[in-house]
Amino acid sequence: MKTKPIVKKLNFEPNLKDYQKTYDSFSYFDEAKKFENLPDGGFNAAYTVCDVNAQNFRKNKVALYWEGEEGEEIKLTFQELSLLSNKVGNLLKNLEVGRGDRVFLFLPRIPELYFCFLGILKIGAIAGTLFSAFGPQALEDRLKNSDAKILITTPQLYPRVQKIKQNLPNLKTVILIDEENRTAFMKEAKLKKPGKNSYTWFYPLMEKALEKLHLASMKPTDPAFMLYTSGTTGKPKGVVHQHKALLHECISARYVLDIKDTDVYWCTADPGWVTGIAYEILGTWCIGSSTLVYGGRFDPAKWYDLIQEYKVTVWYTAPTAIRMLAASGTELVKKYDLSSLRHLASVGEPLNPEAVNWGQKAFGLPFHDNYWQTETGGIVIANYPSLDIKPGSMGKPVPGIKAEVINNQGQPVGPYKEGNLALKPGWPSMMLKIWRRPEKYQSYFLKNWYLTGDKAFKDEDGYFWFISRADDVIKTSGERVGPFEVESALVSHPKIIEAGVIGKPDPLRGELIKAFVTLKKGEKPSEKLKEEIQTYVKKHLAGHAYPREIEFTDKLPKTRSGKIMRRLLKAKELGLPLGDTSTLEDY
Ligand code: WT7
Repeated sequence: MKTKPIVKKLNFEPNLKDYQKTYDSFSYFDEAKKFENLPDGGFNAAYTVCDVNAQNFRKNKVALYWEGEEGEEIKLTFQELSLLSNKVGNLLKNLEVGRGDRVFLFLPRIPELYFCFLGILKIGAIAGTLFSAFGPQALEDRLKNSDAKILITTPQLYPRVQKIKQNLPNLKTVILIDEENRTAFMKEAKLKKPGKNSYTWFYPLMEKALEKLHLASMKPTDPAFMLYTSGTTGKPKGVVHQHKALLHECISARYVLDIKDTDVYWCTADPGWVTGIAYEILGTWCIGSSTLVYGGRFDPAKWYDLIQEYKVTVWYTAPTAIRMLAASGTELVKKYDLSSLRHLASVGEPLNPEAVNWGQKAFGLPFHDNYWQTETGGIVIANYPSLDIKPGSMGKPVPGIKAEVINNQGQPVGPYKEGNLALKPGWPSMMLKIWRRPEKYQSYFLKNWYLTGDKAFKDEDGYFWFISRADDVIKTSGERVGPFEVESALVSHPKIIEAGVIGKPDPLRGELIKAFVTLKKGEKPSEKLKEEIQTYVKKHLAGHAYPREIEFTDKLPKTRSGKIMRRLLKAKELGLPLGDTSTLEDY
């Protein structure tokens, strides 16, 4: 390809020594045999992740290094993680939560998020996570569709829940994390009395919950967790993953992120998205590494400070963050001792060659791009420490994954030909189902392929190159946003009649959300109204999913059946040919 490959000289022994050899001989069956099952022979991902480590030589090893925005620090060992999650399991059982019930976490990155997640899995319930920037509308859609029984949140986020609680008859209990009691609880000091009315406090319930838990013995194919993600149309979909997803997450953490149990690993993602679950809780703890979680906001100096302080060895982040770091300059990097770093990886949106090369310049290490989706449950295409990087390429399929570029008939296309990026179904972290929408699940498959919804090509060396999404899904700062959700939020604004939303290429954020808006008769476009609309979407839908750009227009391009043609809005915005407009209503 055009970009010059980065040939690496490794000064360490990577887990994946010979890509091709491992890829060719790989078998999930052999890998599964290495996993420790429950004493009764059943399986539970949470058991493998923390209890097994709590029972072996890693018992007193720090699993979680947590630092909050104010510099507060908490360390949890594997044993503590195991006991705390046991208690959460019992706490939930005391609230009559059982197998298959949905328990949702609407939490910022605080320690409770991590052990609550494991506690939910331990009793066979299904854990759901909600990104803390969500507003009432986004919450209602997700909690209603999943019929969540319990929601765990914080007093700071609770007001958004309160607004919609009356619309959620199946939400039995809302538990608020009383952070001020956390330290007291951990030291077994006096606890505050439970609150009243529509919520209850977390730590008093933890106090009553037993430490000894009878773990639910699951089948590997039983559901474990779910995440909502957006498509082109309609409400977000509940992507459900099974307990055995852990198998692929563990293997990919080992081969792609090169995690060893001696690592201090930092993933900057939020468990409101799948990366934070698969590679902050499951895959990486399964290997027994220590994980750093920073609860604060993005800040280049603070980030370098964290790497230096915790001696981070493996760092997994996203292109927008890398571009923002690059914009803050290499000088800043040089002020810190970042020599602990061994391996850098990136995910979520295309990683441009400049960003890969900047890593090389700033840290002496390139960022290794890798590709996956909420639905794939784990990394499927990647760059590895032991393979040369072609900057701009997503790399090669992970052992266990068969990837191909196919045409609309399901036939592989040749090298350098654009087509649909497809995967052979059957890897363990492939989604189990879309919650209550079997037809949606079916729509992902063409012949014997799983379709990612992305366009790509493959080069003659078998490297995959991302081209674009095949649909209208927006990727802004690596976060997936459905245009329909934003359009719905916009049209619920009293001054708006219609809205069309697109992703507009942006050098920093990959894409930014742009809205074309038609106002009601008599409403005057103004800069002030733009701001009002932005605030409205932030407040109702989500803090991260608002249109950074708004254009007022008298008319939107529509098909004769009345569907807004985002493709045309985008083509016009980018000055591209409009393509086939035969189905277009008079515009
Ligand atoms: C979509 C999935 C963060 C991983 C899980 C997020 C895009 C993801 C890359 C990459 C180009 C990428 C795709 C994909 N994407 N990684 N390395 N290069 N595009 O999953 O939020 O479900 O988003 O993100 O379009 O389909 P997600």
